Amino acid sequence: MIPILLPVHAGCAIISISLFIWRGLAMWFRRPLTHRFLRRTLPDSVDTLFLATGIIMAFVSGISPLALDWLAAKIVGLLAYIVLGAVALKYGRNMRLKRISFIAALCVFAYVLAVAHSKDVTPFI
Ligand code: HEM
Repeated sequence: MIPILLPVHAGCAIISISLFIWRGLAMWFRRPLTHRFLRRTLPDSVDTLFLATGIIMAFVSGISPLALDWLAAKIVGLLAYIVLGAVALKYGRNMRLKRISFIAALCVFAYVLAVAHSKDVTPFI
């Protein structure tokens, strides 16, 4: 099962960040996105599949986030990415806060990607 889920999970990571960057740039340059499918439906579906494949892989491998710090770091990182992304694209009170949140979400995503590849919570050290 893992050989099928791993490329789906990694592929969802690439599509998720690509859609996020696209929506973030639209926010940055004040270009409202009109396509509901590309703006909401596709990102939400990809993110759901992304999280589901991660959880299923962890479950199938019998690994617990409490036992493995890199998995716990990925889950916390994903939650931070979701919250920062929501502030950047929707809930930010002003443009400055939205832009800061957008940059922070990209940094968190890069960190989680590095953790995913290295299976180490301090991948840059
Ligand atoms: C922003 C969030 C995430 C990103 C960018 C991400 C990215 C990735 C990538 C690129 C891989 C492939 C690593 C490799 O083989 O080199 C991977 C593997 C994996 N991910 Fe994620 N992931 C994220 C969130 C999660 C979450 C929330 C979970 C669990 C709840 C999870 C569970 C797993 C598992 C179990 C593997 C397989 C590790 C192995 O090879 O044994 N991921 N992830």
